Amino acid sequence: MTILVTGGRGQVARAVVDGLLTAGQPVRVASRDPEAAQVPDGVQAVRVDLSDPGTLPAALDGVEKVFLYADAKGIDGFIAAAEAAGAPHIVLLSTSSLTRANADRNPIAQMHVAVEDRLRASGLPWTFLRPGTFATNTLQWAPAIRATGVVKAPYPQAHASAIHEADIADIAVKAFTEPGHEGQAYLLSGPESVTQQEQVDCLAEATGRKIRLEEVSPEEYRATLSRWGGDNFIDQLLEYLAMWDGKPMPVCPAYTELTGRRGRTYAQWARDHAADFRPAD
Ligand SMILES: NC(=O)c1ccc[n+]([C@@H]2O[C@H](COP(=O)([O-])OP(=O)(O)OC[C@H]3O[C@@H](n4cnc5c(N)ncnc54)[C@H](OP(=O)(O)O)[C@@H]3O)[C@@H](O)[C@H]2O)c1
Repeated sequence: MTILVTGGRGQVARAVVDGLLTAGQPVRVASRDPEAAQVPDGVQAVRVDLSDPGTLPAALDGVEKVFLYADAKGIDGFIAAAEAAGAPHIVLLSTSSLTRANADRNPIAQMHVAVEDRLRASGLPWTFLRPGTFATNTLQWAPAIRATGVVKAPYPQAHASAIHEADIADIAVKAFTEPGHEGQAYLLSGPESVTQQEQVDCLAEATGRKIRLEEVSPEEYRATLSRWGGDNFIDQLLEYLAMWDGKPMPVCPAYTELTGRRGRTYAQWARDHAADFRPAD
């Protein structure tokens, strides 16, 4: 029984691979660039582009379960290939944003709605993981922190219940290795709501460096973000920060209900990723 993990270079996929290997499960990693995926020794890496269904049959051969990144363009081709390969159980990396009031004008939420709908309508068994804000999003601060020790961002008091990728992976591993998770959708978050200022303070503590957050206007921030995404993405991000400015974000109970443990805090995430925020020697 092999479990195929797509999105091989992604932070969540890597955590899922680690979790499955720790649980003694056989894993195959799929990435658009398998060499860059840097898989652990002994793990097979194959090339898969979810937007190119021709890459799927070989990757799905002998596979009983799939950790799937959402790709609306490729989902019909993926479903056809998965059904031909024996209808593996799909654990989809979805998003909590599709449950929010503004989901109908959020293109990221709509992309995930399309993928969830297609999987639900297919004959494949599925489980949807719907995390909120990833702690790994703050890796976008790493180049500036390494170079200057200063994060320039608006809304220092904007909150997020940022989730550690290892917590998402824990739930994926449960969904793959225990009965009872098929047909379930789990809303996931970190265990506490933390402001951007508190996140920067955690990074300073974890790295032992002086790091400060310098508040800039949303428009100044927009200019620095232009290399990260299009106008739509930046509008959504700024709207999101403004919406949670000074307002704690609710915490989802699913991680604790499913594992019996509290999820990993942002402070823990900062310790786990401290090396990413330190200048090279
Ligand atoms: N960031 C957040 O706060 C957040 C919150 C909730 C949900 N999500 C969702 O989680 C997913 C990952 O987001 P992320 O921010 O973590 O991005 P990320 O780390 O950059 O991961 C993106 C991964 O997606 C894979 N991928 C993209 N297009 C692909 C394709 N055509 N075929 C195969 N793989 C493809 C890539 O794998 P390879 O390059 O190795 O092929 C890449 O590793 C997205 O669906 C996002 O909407 C994100």
